[in-house]
Amino acid sequence: MKSIAAGLVALATMGLASTAMAADGKAVYEQACAMCHAAGVANAPKLTDKAAWAPRVATGKAALVASVTKGKGAMPAKGGNAALPDADVAAAVDYILSAVK
Ligand code: HEC
Repeated sequence: MKSIAAGLVALATMGLASTAMAADGKAVYEQACAMCHAAGVANAPKLTDKAAWAPRVATGKAALVASVTKGKGAMPAKGGNAALPDADVAAAVDYILSAVK
């Protein structure tokens, strides 16, 4: 009985670890970006406002990832989460791009 429980814990832990490694853009967005981009805080372009995103999308993904990494205007570097891995920043930008196109 005990070993079955331990096995389940190990499986659950593995599942969590692989989720974190795969950089789920939607999850990163919700944790690190939505507080500004959902409501338009500090004039952040809202995720639902395609017109606001169109000229930014036109600059290309690399430019947008660079803006988030370095910060732009009222947006702090990495949205204020300095510990955010670059892969997570890129995944969150991918999520935004897929949501606004
Ligand atoms: C503190 C509020 C805030 C947070 C948190 C935040 N942003 Fe922003 N974001 C902004 C604002 C404000 C702008 C507009 C900047 C400007 O154009 O002056 C912006 C602009 C952007 C742009 C367009 C950049 C460009 O070159 O035009 C992207 C892409 C972006 N944010 C992605 C993200 C991602 C991804 C995250 C999470 C990792 C995030 N933001 C977190 C406020 C925020």
